[in-house]
Amino acid sequence: MDSSPPVVAVVVAAGSGTRLGDGPPKALRDVGGRSLVRHSLDALANGGVDAAIVVIAPGEQAAFETALADAPIPAGYVYGGARRQDSVRAGLAAIAGDPKLAECTTVLVHDAARALVPADVVTRVIEAVGDGASGCVPVIPVVDSIRRQNPDGTSQVVDRTPLRAVQTPQGFRREVLEKALAHAEEAGLEVSDDATAIEAIGEAVVLVDGSREALKVTVPADLVLAEAIARSRG
Ligand code: CTP
Ligand code: MG
Repeated sequence: MDSSPPVVAVVVAAGSGTRLGDGPPKALRDVGGRSLVRHSLDALANGGVDAAIVVIAPGEQAAFETALADAPIPAGYVYGGARRQDSVRAGLAAIAGDPKLAECTTVLVHDAARALVPADVVTRVIEAVGDGASGCVPVIPVVDSIRRQNPDGTSQVVDRTPLRAVQTPQGFRREVLEKALAHAEEAGLEVSDDATAIEAIGEAVVLVDGSREALKVTVPADLVLAEAIARSRG
């Protein structure tokens, strides 16, 4: 770590992985000989992140301690909450409580499940925040045709040209994200990602190019694809 403030990632891994089905916690599933959370830490480290807080479900500490033992950057863990946004807040609280991370001004929030995000995506996000963005989101074009289905069963095609699918890591000025998630809590706002929370307090989000390889492992078929991507990298 040099003298510039550390870039810290909150890696959320406290979900229940319901859609993936029975088995170990999703973030500890193996792809190409490594756990998803370890792949995530490798990508974040290679992209310029200095330290990470991994947010895990209570009861999983022993398994995660093993998975984090040889992490490429300092990586502590804390327990998450019921919703993703609660887990992100737990991670931010851990940063605030760690004197070594106190200087951090750029924070990334990453889904452990997006294990194979290329390092250059991570770097673009860090640079956008370094260049002054309050929030930055990697996105990819939508490839499927999209239809809106109405309650009466009719449907209309939606022009997909301007649509973008949202990925992680998302990057933020740390103080903005803290304020935004506190506001979401007070306002009873449920957000599926952190960029939505900062927009709710009037902050703008910058988009950068994501990657299809940053897929979120969600259903069993995603594991097959992730395995193939990991293998193709050697
Ligand atoms: N997550 C979390 N805390 C929660 C919910 C989700 O840390 N209370 C994390 C997950 O571990 C995952 C990321 O947020 O890395 C994205 O969530 P998702 O893909 O939905 O994972 P799960 O919630 O675990 O899966 P499912 O919705 O199928 O149960
Ligand atoms: Mg979920």
